[in-house]
Amino acid sequence: MSRIIKGFSKLTREEKIKKLQETYELPDDFPDRLARYRHSGQQDLFDDFSENTLSNYFLPFGVAPNFLIDDKMYVVPMVVEESSVVAAASRAASFWAANGGFKTKIIDSLKKGHIWFKWNGPKISFDTFPKTLENKLTEAVSSITANMEKRGGGIRGMKILPLEEMQTIFQLEVYFETVDSMGANFINSCLEGMKAPLQEFFRTQEDFKQYGDIEIVMAILSNYTTECIVTAQVECPVSALKPFAPELSPEFFAHRFKTAMDIAWMDTSRAVTHNKGIFNGTDAVIIATGNDFRAAEAAGHAWAAKDGQYRSLSKCEISEKGIFKMELTIPLALGTVGGLTRLHPLAGLAIEMLGNPSATELMSIAASAGLANNFSAVASLVTTGIQKGHMKLHLINLLNSQGASAIEKEAAANYFKTRNVSARAVEEFLENFRKQRNEQ
Ligand code: MEV
Repeated sequence: MSRIIKGFSKLTREEKIKKLQETYELPDDFPDRLARYRHSGQQDLFDDFSENTLSNYFLPFGVAPNFLIDDKMYVVPMVVEESSVVAAASRAASFWAANGGFKTKIIDSLKKGHIWFKWNGPKISFDTFPKTLENKLTEAVSSITANMEKRGGGIRGMKILPLEEMQTIFQLEVYFETVDSMGANFINSCLEGMKAPLQEFFRTQEDFKQYGDIEIVMAILSNYTTECIVTAQVECPVSALKPFAPELSPEFFAHRFKTAMDIAWMDTSRAVTHNKGIFNGTDAVIIATGNDFRAAEAAGHAWAAKDGQYRSLSKCEISEKGIFKMELTIPLALGTVGGLTRLHPLAGLAIEMLGNPSATELMSIAASAGLANNFSAVASLVTTGIQKGHMKLHLINLLNSQGASAIEKEAAANYFKTRNVSARAVEEFLENFRKQRNEQ
């Protein structure tokens, strides 16, 4: 039977490493490799972001310049490990900057949360929410909401709905404006503060006494932020698309592009990959700015399936007048204050690089990055395919993984200018190159 480590979290970092070495088969240089990536000045800060921290996991902090969004120019910070995502975003950004840029619309910025409870009463639904209950619940959490109200936020409405699929289960749905914060802690604290007064309300209603007390099951925000939505859009004359299809007519390219977009709308298998390409850009901005990409992805994928079939998040149109239009609509609950956004030194820097945007401005930027990556990906897919560009950029990773020297890298860059890159081709190139040098 495997041994269970007790009290692991209470150990010091050194004790944790020793305990892991005693318990698991780990590489001999495990402690040295962890130590190599610890930060000399700010490790305490990084340690505290999570638990049982042993080291740091590095990812590239890159930038895509030339993002013209709502007539403002940005250099967009992107944290992503996949080669070609930043290059694809940059290429699309430059193209669209010369063609009117990205135009965005915030459809709403509310977030919601629920108290889920069991009740043996009738399936009531408070569409017109009882003012006495709303006041009672709002009052109960006034110490939590006071600061948020000063910043222009707070509670924006409530309703009670039965969960039709489950007997005796109800939800109190509460809407929040959290201004520039993502607001997860704020929302959860409010909801938890409302549990007892909600119970008390039901207990004191004469009509409800016969059904007994409600039982609170749980209180939690919903990451399905259907009231926190942004749309990003680009458009240009079809003729302007020429740079993306040098060997095709722009009209042919635009129609094939639209066909690919329509396939992603109709077919779930394609839609998932298509949307992954959108999140390549969106997540990279979300991570760079210290936001929660798991929340954004969960919401985005649920939104993609809102009509019962998982579909693409973006669409494309070509008008009779020859205007190509592409649009992405996505729920994005982001913050530019609170959480890790200012605590993580590079997230703070990313937000400053964007000019200290509001949360809604950051929604517009992240959505535009998603649309940029989506445009580049589909443009490559319907012309050269993605592997040509992708493998060119991946060449350096293949060379590094085979321990190539600076001279070998330079020679490889020249050699692969006119050849297809693959792991095998790089291996063969290095073998030959080394053999030739040894023979000289
Ligand atoms: C790769 O990371 C993303 C793509 O697969 C997206 C797409 O297929 O649209 C290229």
